[in-house]
Amino acid sequence: MLPFILRWRFVKRLFAGLVPVVALSGCSGRQSILDPAGQDSASLLTLFWVMLAGLVVIWLLINGMMFFFHHLSPRKYDESIARKLIVGGGIVFPTVVIAALLAWGLSMMPDQRAPGDGLRVEIVGEQWWWRVAYWPDGADEPIVSANEIRLPVGRRSTFELSSAAVIHSLWIPALGGKMDMFPGRETFLTLEPTEAGTFRGQCAEFCGASHALMAFEVVTMDPEEFETWLAEEAGPAQSPEGEAAIEGADVFSAQGCGACHTVRGTEAVGQVGPDLTHVGSRMSLGAGILAPTVDNFIAWIDHTGDLKPEVEMPAYDDLPEDDLLALATYLVGLK
Ligand code: CUA
Repeated sequence: MLPFILRWRFVKRLFAGLVPVVALSGCSGRQSILDPAGQDSASLLTLFWVMLAGLVVIWLLINGMMFFFHHLSPRKYDESIARKLIVGGGIVFPTVVIAALLAWGLSMMPDQRAPGDGLRVEIVGEQWWWRVAYWPDGADEPIVSANEIRLPVGRRSTFELSSAAVIHSLWIPALGGKMDMFPGRETFLTLEPTEAGTFRGQCAEFCGASHALMAFEVVTMDPEEFETWLAEEAGPAQSPEGEAAIEGADVFSAQGCGACHTVRGTEAVGQVGPDLTHVGSRMSLGAGILAPTVDNFIAWIDHTGDLKPEVEMPAYDDLPEDDLLALATYLVGLK
C-alpha cells in the first residue's frame, strides 16, 4: 500500500487547500478588498481574515481528527464517544463559534453606517452609467458630474443612493462594502478614505445586458486638492480651442446632442444622459470602459451599442469621419 502522502485522496485535499491561496494572491490592485484604502474596507478585511483563519483552523482540526482515527490510531466504533462528538462538535462548538463571529461582525455595523461630517454625494444608477451630484456645505444646487467619484481623504462622506429604473449596487471594494440602489427609494452609505489614490468601482447587482460594463473611477484626494478640484468642477465648460474643436462644438449643436447632455455654459442642457461639462478631464469614457482619448470618443459615438449592449444612446454611425473627429476633439477638450 502507498504511503498516505502519495495517495490520490491526499493529493486532492492538498490541491483543494492550495487553490484559494493561489487565487487570493492574484487579488491585489485597485479593485480589491485585499488592498484597503478606507476605514470601512480595512475593518471588513480584518473580518475576512479572521473568518478565513477560523475556517482554516476548523478544516485542519476536522481533517486532523479524521487522519488520527483513520490512520494513526484506528479503533472500534464506540457509541458514547460518537455521541460526545456529535453533541460537542456538531452542536456546541458551531453554536459558540458562529455566535461569537456574529456578535463581533454586528459590532462593526454601526461604524460602517456612522453619519458623515464630510461631503454629501447623490448618486443615481442609470442604464448603465452613474449620475453623480456633489452637495458641498450650504450649496443651493449641486455640482453635477458622471461616472467618476472624487472624495477627500480623512473625511467621512455620505452617499445618497437611488436608481432610475432597475436595482443597481454601488461598490468600491477598496473603500468599503456595497449598497443596493432602488428606484423610488433612497439608501445610504458612508465611506471614509484613508489614502489618496485611484480606484475602480463596479455595479454589484445584475441590472441587465451591460451590468458588467457599469463601472466607474474613484479618486481620493488630499482635502485641499479636493476643494480646488471641486471649485473647478463647479465651473462652466472650457470654450473650444482650435479649429477642430470649434467645428466639433457646431456638430454637437447641429446633431442635437444637447437634447440629452448638458455642457454648462452652453445651450446644451439635456438631462437624459451624462453631464459632459468636464468630460475631457475624466479618467474614463462610457462609465469605466474606455480611456478618454479622441480615438475612443470616435469609436464610442460611432458604435455605442457594440461597445455597451442595449445602451440608450444611439450610434451616430452616419456621421462623416471629419465630423466625428471634430466632435471627439471638442469633447476631449472639455476639461
Ligand atoms: Cu447596474 Cu449592475
